[in-house]
Amino acid sequence: MQFNLTVLPGDGVGPEVTNEATKVLQVTGKRFGHDVSLHYGLVGGVAIDQLGTALSPDTLKMCRDSDAVLLGAVGGPEWDDPKARVHPEDGLLALRKGLGLFANLRPVKVFPTLVDSTNLKPEVIKGVDLIFVRELTGGLYFARPKRQWQTSRGRRATDSMTYSEQEIERIVRVGFELAQGRRKKLVSVDKANVLESSRLWRQVAMEVAKEYPDVELEHMLVDACAMRLIQNPPYFDVLVTENMFGDILTDEASMLAGSMGMLPSASLAEVPQEGVNIFGMYEPIHGSAPRRAGLNMANPIAIILSIAMMLRYSFGLIQEAQTIETAVDDVLQEGYRTYDIMDEGKIRVGTEEMGDLIAGKVGG
Ligand code: IPM
Ligand code: MG
Repeated sequence: MQFNLTVLPGDGVGPEVTNEATKVLQVTGKRFGHDVSLHYGLVGGVAIDQLGTALSPDTLKMCRDSDAVLLGAVGGPEWDDPKARVHPEDGLLALRKGLGLFANLRPVKVFPTLVDSTNLKPEVIKGVDLIFVRELTGGLYFARPKRQWQTSRGRRATDSMTYSEQEIERIVRVGFELAQGRRKKLVSVDKANVLESSRLWRQVAMEVAKEYPDVELEHMLVDACAMRLIQNPPYFDVLVTENMFGDILTDEASMLAGSMGMLPSASLAEVPQEGVNIFGMYEPIHGSAPRRAGLNMANPIAIILSIAMMLRYSFGLIQEAQTIETAVDDVLQEGYRTYDIMDEGKIRVGTEEMGDLIAGKVGG
């Protein structure tokens, strides 16, 4: 198979972890006889500095013309001025919107070898295996009005939480489809006791549920969900929620896995179905970690696991994906750790060494 990828390393630790991901992909290609063709582009702060925009039309076109996109991370203090005309994050949002990536999948799995090294009690997180389906192109991030303005009594600003039934339907459907292939439990997260958009969300979720009688649907308020995620995380199988709720809850949930550096993500343009290869963008859920940049410190596991998700969803290569996941597991079992998951008696390694170790396992 031919992999035609756009690679957008971005800012901070982005380029370092991206290097390790492409390394692992190349080795996977070699082992299984696939041809990897990589096209590099700029996004985020580096794009602002070099092109004056966080995402150029040419880069967006390059992404559209490829089978999938691999993204490192965007952002950094040098572009953080709230008064600035453009921010690195604008590039990421323009990619999501411009590529129609409405479904963001964020699996949270606790590797057995890390059960004792997180901030939570082992008995609380043991067996956690859940997946978030976060709506990615609507809600507070995109809906209009969205602006800041002057009034005679000072400045005002607004963002809007607006959803159409079509937007809700397609994302809830992703939740049901995934739940069907898993433990058949879907939690739809909303704030229907207060928000009108959430009341529509709940209605649509109930309507779609009729097509999936084998899946148990539960509605959960977002505040209760935040609590339950820490109180009893193995309770969850699939969660589906709107953009902003999903942003917040997935950072919270990352701590179940020990570190943001462990969590991959896939942003898809279609409802995933077995046997259908779909366009997607793959990235770690962590940010650009500017303080760690250039130090060969960052954990590349999140983006390497994102490569596995890419092979699964955009190329239908289950065996290849599993080979990468098993390699990560093996390397962790052998005791290798980056700084963020380091524990007593383990072997501390840098970004590159971790990438080499995993690539070595994949290579066989
Ligand atoms: C994420 C990030 C982004 C988001 C930022 C960088 C715009 O936090 O992917 O979770 O808020 O969606
Ligand atoms: Mg986030």
